[in-house]
Amino acid sequence: MDDLLNREHSLFTSTISGDIDGEPTILGQNLTKTATTHSFAWIVGSLWLGRPLKSKKTEAVIDQSLRLLVDHGPYVSGAVNTMIAARAGKDLVSSLVSGLLTIGPRFGGAVNGAAKIWFESVSNKITPLDLVENFAKRKEYIQGIGHRKYRLDAPDPRVSILLKLIGNIPHPHLDFAIAVEKITTGKKPNLILNVDGALAAILLDLLVYEEKLERDEIQTLIEAEFFNAIFVLSRSVGFIAHYLDQKRLGEALFRLPDNQVLTK
Ligand code: ACO
Repeated sequence: MDDLLNREHSLFTSTISGDIDGEPTILGQNLTKTATTHSFAWIVGSLWLGRPLKSKKTEAVIDQSLRLLVDHGPYVSGAVNTMIAARAGKDLVSSLVSGLLTIGPRFGGAVNGAAKIWFESVSNKITPLDLVENFAKRKEYIQGIGHRKYRLDAPDPRVSILLKLIGNIPHPHLDFAIAVEKITTGKKPNLILNVDGALAAILLDLLVYEEKLERDEIQTLIEAEFFNAIFVLSRSVGFIAHYLDQKRLGEALFRLPDNQVLTK
């Protein structure tokens, strides 16, 4: 009775992990068992959805995306920021975070924006043509469409690898994204379905048809930026590699050459 009267609210609620008698647990199972019997991709997907993945296909797509998105050379915004911080003498975490902070709507962070567009369009039965025209009227970019380097006649090799993994499940989100690409590439050859847009569409189809998520659960994942998380996790490996590379090379403090900056 005293116990009931003295009850206190917990300060936190967590549904994904804990420690039972010194044994770390995830999703109700001993971590030591899960970590020795399941892939990293399965653990990532299960922890992020808050329950064990149902489908081998989802696991395969997460695994392949984590490997495909790991790095794209030293040229991109995040890698450049990481290298500059490393050369300014900063530590591992500071350099990594300075790279991560560039991830957003123009670099790496379009997976989530694309998922929102594909999901809302398919749910509300918007036609691909109406979508393209609505974005054009508002002078907004369709997330998941377009690339600086790749174009119809020089496609992104990562996209075809992902597309093959969808297999024979229903894929209305992917069909929609490809229909949008048909219209946009008709206007300009570089307005292809990019790797962010393709990954977003495939993940949506997997969440609906393989993981059996409800509409409101997907809406919550979109609002929480679940779809960008795969890029963030994967590219962290590349940023850390660029940090270690700069340290190994002993590169000096970076300063832009005067002739590379226009001052007025
Ligand atoms: N939706 C609609 N129109 C677009 C889009 C788009 N996503 N992207 C470019 N355009 C149009 C522009 O309005 C412009 O039209 P105009 O010439 O009539 O003014 C023309 O295409 C410009 O094309 P480019 O200059 O060749 O494209 P840019 O190099 O400026 O943009 C970028 C490339 C940044 C990727 C852009 O397409 C974009 O922001 N896309 C959406 C965000 C996105 O998906 N980012 C992920 C990129 S891939 C990755 O990070 C792995």
